[in-house]
Amino acid sequence: MSGTLKSYYNELYREYPARYGTDPLLLVQIAIKKLSRGSAVLDVAGGQGRNGLYAAEQGHDVVLYDLSSIAVEQARDEAVRRGISSFRAMQGDVIRDGIRGAYDLIICAFLLHYYSRTSGEKLLKEMQKYTVAGGYHAIAVIMTGGDFYEMDTHAADHWYFAPGELKNAYKAKGWAIAWTIELPGTSPTKKNDGSPIQNKNAFVLAQAPQGNF
Ligand SMILES: C[S@@+](CC[C@H](N)C(=O)[O-])C[C@H]1O[C@@H](n2cnc3c(N)ncnc32)[C@H](O)[C@@H]1O
Repeated sequence: MSGTLKSYYNELYREYPARYGTDPLLLVQIAIKKLSRGSAVLDVAGGQGRNGLYAAEQGHDVVLYDLSSIAVEQARDEAVRRGISSFRAMQGDVIRDGIRGAYDLIICAFLLHYYSRTSGEKLLKEMQKYTVAGGYHAIAVIMTGGDFYEMDTHAADHWYFAPGELKNAYKAKGWAIAWTIELPGTSPTKKNDGSPIQNKNAFVLAQAPQGNF
């Protein structure tokens, strides 16, 4: 799975140097406002860096991981172009290798639908483990019912979220929900007939309980 995805994203990012745009998600803008300057931020599967580069520009120390070596190169180049020094990008497979560290904020946007619920739950658990007490997660996922879900021939094996599921998964672990929204969104990927793909997305900003880490 990871090998196919890596080639897919390498080709996609080579063709489109800003596939998901350069603006950070609203979720990430809200999350950044919660942090004090110089916070440690991890952008898991951060792609070409729209969120991680923004976090670094706002004064935080950012590490971005992505499976795509092209995304990592492009994010590094963009950091240099914008004169950002507190940004590191590394190629890696977070599903296979997991994460390590101690973070004030972990961002994970639009990754989990590529993997099984078991793999996703393992990653979320690990991300929760390596978040400091009172730290945050900014998570964006694709829900059931939208075009990606309907078109994915492996949808039954992949983790698409039911309404409320992401929020409830965090609540069940004792995390507080600082902000959440579920709403339709358009993907830059087109259907075979050229029409835009409409997904249903869930966004959660969750705060770790005291005593975490
Ligand atoms: C839909 S894109 C989202 C990129 C970025 N989070 C954003 O919102 O702009 C999904 C990203 O997940 C990355 N990815 C997929 N599987 C991964 C894995 N196992 N480890 C790290 N990155 C992965 C892909 O390379 C791709 O950049």
